[in-house]
Amino acid sequence: MKNISSVLFALSLLFGTKSLAQTLWLDDLDLSTMEIGWGTVQARKSVEGNPLTIGGQKFERGVGTHAVSTFMVNLGGKGKRFSASVGVDDEAGDKSSVVFYVLADKKVLWQSGVMKKGDASKRIDIDVRTVKLLGLLVTDADDGIDYDHVDWCDAKIELIAPRTKAQLTVRPPTLAPYVLTPKPSDLPRINGAKAFGVRPGNPFLYTIAATGKRPMKFAAKNLPKGLTLDESTGRITGTLDKRGEYVVTLIARNAPGQSELDLRIVSGDNISLTPPMGWNSWNCWAEAVDDAKVRAAADAMVKSGLVNHGWTYINIDDCWMVKPDAKDPVLAGSPRDSNGMINSNGKFPDMKALSEYVHSKGLKLGIYSGPGPLTCAGFTASYKHEVQDAQRFGEWGVDYLKYDWCSYSQVAKDRSLPALKEPYAVMRAALDKAPRDIVYSLCQYGWGDVWEWGAEVGGNCWRTTGDIVDTWSSMAGIGFKQAGHEKYAGPGHWNDPDMLVVGRVGWGPQLHPTRLTPDEQYTHISLWCLLSAPLLIGCDMSTLDDFTLSLLTNDEVLAINQDRLGRQARRLSNDNVRQIWVKEMEDGSKTVGLFYADDGKRTPVEYFGPWTKKVKMKMTLRGVDIGIKGKFRVRDLWRQKEVGVFEKETQTAVPYHGVALLRVWGTEKQ
Ligand code: GLA
Repeated sequence: MKNISSVLFALSLLFGTKSLAQTLWLDDLDLSTMEIGWGTVQARKSVEGNPLTIGGQKFERGVGTHAVSTFMVNLGGKGKRFSASVGVDDEAGDKSSVVFYVLADKKVLWQSGVMKKGDASKRIDIDVRTVKLLGLLVTDADDGIDYDHVDWCDAKIELIAPRTKAQLTVRPPTLAPYVLTPKPSDLPRINGAKAFGVRPGNPFLYTIAATGKRPMKFAAKNLPKGLTLDESTGRITGTLDKRGEYVVTLIARNAPGQSELDLRIVSGDNISLTPPMGWNSWNCWAEAVDDAKVRAAADAMVKSGLVNHGWTYINIDDCWMVKPDAKDPVLAGSPRDSNGMINSNGKFPDMKALSEYVHSKGLKLGIYSGPGPLTCAGFTASYKHEVQDAQRFGEWGVDYLKYDWCSYSQVAKDRSLPALKEPYAVMRAALDKAPRDIVYSLCQYGWGDVWEWGAEVGGNCWRTTGDIVDTWSSMAGIGFKQAGHEKYAGPGHWNDPDMLVVGRVGWGPQLHPTRLTPDEQYTHISLWCLLSAPLLIGCDMSTLDDFTLSLLTNDEVLAINQDRLGRQARRLSNDNVRQIWVKEMEDGSKTVGLFYADDGKRTPVEYFGPWTKKVKMKMTLRGVDIGIKGKFRVRDLWRQKEVGVFEKETQTAVPYHGVALLRVWGTEKQ
């Protein structure tokens, strides 16, 4: 002991006490706990991987992120100064606007005021002595997160005494995943879409989704002429020549029993009478997608049992076509054949065979293109070849097309409504010529309030937002902003708040478990079901863990999404901490989501969970608020359990960023 203190004393004589001080760059810290609204946090690069540049000035060091972004540093009273130069990165779009804040122990120490693209960086240089927790925040300046690419440049912390990276990291307690979904019973239960649209003359494929002990046999009463049912697979195929509506009773039988369900088949102009359910390659594989991974997803859809809960589509996103400027020979080649028909790249040697493989499992195949010359990832798209591409998709046996704006900005005259609508109407007309029912999914990030006219240009669904990532800031930011869109959704035309980010995700080839907490994942699935949103699983299907599977196989929860009425939930109330959403159901009941969301208008301090969160928040459900007179019966959908019958109201404790998803029936004459 004596020796150490004399060494320290000698050192302090040599270098002064300053020798124990330490300077740490923000870009050297563990950034995995930084919240980000879009993309991935980058050290020494912008969020899109470019050199950090603010108002024309380049910086070597710093962190690129995207609003809404929060980060906490545990200075533990050892801090001295925090300095940085902040601003909107020059790569951002013109509409970017953000506010930077530095907080210390629940107090705002510094704020930038609204900053926009092109503004010179603002310099922060502040005293952080005695501060325990330092908070860095970038908000969207209350106008949405679009284009908000931001940088903390030259950001560094001076300390009076050394602290390790681990000591500086504030890691929220990891909550163990907890499964609420009960295991399906051995008795047959028919799930999935209860209404199915088909166009006369087009191939029909509907697979009865049913849980219960195998072997199981299927039957159908009142199946219209032209359709046949395979009694062992439950697949209904054929064609309907005439327009009309048929109520078919589906029957599933096994050793323990039997169950029945009425399926409404509508032969007419409308398809996708309930929101599409399936998988899409983007949120896991992105550019790393290939034929084998798509087949593996189809295999897993069946093997995991997801197919028995109504999951149907296997959708290939971007990157299946030729990339004109590719150096990789697998992606390079001739984008189209001599007749102008589109080619797939070397990773997809035979699209027709792939589609037959997917169909052989009772599933459906989706594909991706866009109206511009190139897709978002720089692959061949449909510009000036729309009719040929629709024809080719039809020949291949494609059942779903995601049509993504991307490079069409180079072609479009402007961003007026007619210019926004035009390319989508062109592809609609082309799809109408293909003798196949192809779900038409518009993707242009919500521009021009697409929900107001997506149905008019023939879309079956339309993205209402930019791209989702697996953070609370992104998922909740997107999900809760859907309030007000409900009047535009209905059978055959749905608002699409983007794909699911549960399970192992990552925009390939490296994947990671979703960064959403278990409660945030319950919120995600519950909210997407309430919103009647297309449900497209975004994770690697071959590594589904039990918790993720439990989120995707709760039939009472999925039935909310697939309800035949097709009414999207509306937001009943929002006090900026708690939100109540309600969805009208076909049987007259209501599904209610009580969310401890913490996502409304917030003070800077309220953006930081560790400073403000309660473990649970008490929430009250009152019958009158959801239009129910007298007593009401409540069922907890995740637990699939009756909660009780209540006179006027009932209370429940909702976990932080979590939800209580309840179905409510009035028990008196309404
Ligand atoms: C856009 C879309 C994403 C995905 C990528 C593919 O960003 O919004 O969903 O399709 O393009 O490049």
